[in-house]
Amino acid sequence: MKETDKQEVLFSKLVAYRRELHENPELSFKEFETTKRIRQWLKEEGITILDYPLEVGVIAEVSGAKPGPTIALRADIDALPIKEETNLPFASKNDGVMHACGHDFHTASILGSAILLQERKSELNGTVRIIFQPAEEVAQGAVAIDKAGVLEGVEAIFGMHNKPDLPVGTIGVREGSLMASVDRFEIDVIGVGGHAGIPNNSVDPIVAASQIVSALQTIVSRNISSFHNAVISVTRIQGGNTWNVIPEKVQLEGTVRTFQNEARELIPELMKRTSEGVASGFGAKADFRWYPYLPVVVNHAPFSQIMKETAEELGYTVVEASPSPAGEDFAFYQTKIPGFFVWMGVDGPQEWHHPAFMLKEEALPIAANYFADLSIKVLNQWK
Ligand code: NI
Repeated sequence: MKETDKQEVLFSKLVAYRRELHENPELSFKEFETTKRIRQWLKEEGITILDYPLEVGVIAEVSGAKPGPTIALRADIDALPIKEETNLPFASKNDGVMHACGHDFHTASILGSAILLQERKSELNGTVRIIFQPAEEVAQGAVAIDKAGVLEGVEAIFGMHNKPDLPVGTIGVREGSLMASVDRFEIDVIGVGGHAGIPNNSVDPIVAASQIVSALQTIVSRNISSFHNAVISVTRIQGGNTWNVIPEKVQLEGTVRTFQNEARELIPELMKRTSEGVASGFGAKADFRWYPYLPVVVNHAPFSQIMKETAEELGYTVVEASPSPAGEDFAFYQTKIPGFFVWMGVDGPQEWHHPAFMLKEEALPIAANYFADLSIKVLNQWK
């Protein structure tokens, strides 16, 4: 078959996969039908499926003719609890669930890479493990994949997110931080309740909590390097039931975002110290609790050249990727092994998670070819 015909066949296959996935979205850790479909499509292409203890998600592998290291490609497969408003002929049939982050696109594209790699096995000096990961949206899928042992023997990992504000054929590459860490905190400020008219007999947690909210804002301005970025947002204050009683307790809750893991490690210690110290100044107590959620997506600098070269050799446009304050659980893999995550232009009218989120399917073979070529090049140049 001619190369152009081959690409036509690939394109129609990927569009069909993507539309079937889009029509049948499933929530995080509930991707049972999605898992069945991916397995079926891989089988049809004669691609090896590996056996790991995973309820949902699929691990496939393409081994080259020559031995070499193992690298991984990762696609996320889950959808969101959003009611679709696109009016597409293949809109979600699962009411209230939608592929509003384009993970259907990621899955279909990486299936395309697997198909291309299977056809080009003879060029492959090593092995490409292909991870179809569940539950990205709840930031637990990557951890589940790691726990199942999928990363054992894997030297490096590559992935992407579609980017609606980049044109089709454009790839955003950036070494270092790309996506923010996402963490949650809670603080209980405990005083002594009493009569609102006799505050001297109470320890007012509302006054103490107010000062804590203000003091927390100085952590970013006074304790974090001016070369780092961080956001501390208190998003909930709860305390008191009525107008004439000083309550015993106030609860604060919020989130912290950073673009450097150094800042991410420092901030909870400073928040604990600040809230406890301020509370104690008022004779109150603070109970600070930190719930780690997602690390920073940090791209391994030595790969940035090959990430760009691969795109340019395919005739794609490379731009410097703009960092995103959204989180991405690809970051977990990068805490274990070197990895690189790129933006794939899909030219959509809406941002991620919008009920009318859409993308251009012409980007499917672009992403498929990119990650197939990238895998071959990375393994060829491996030192
Ligand atoms: Ni996403």
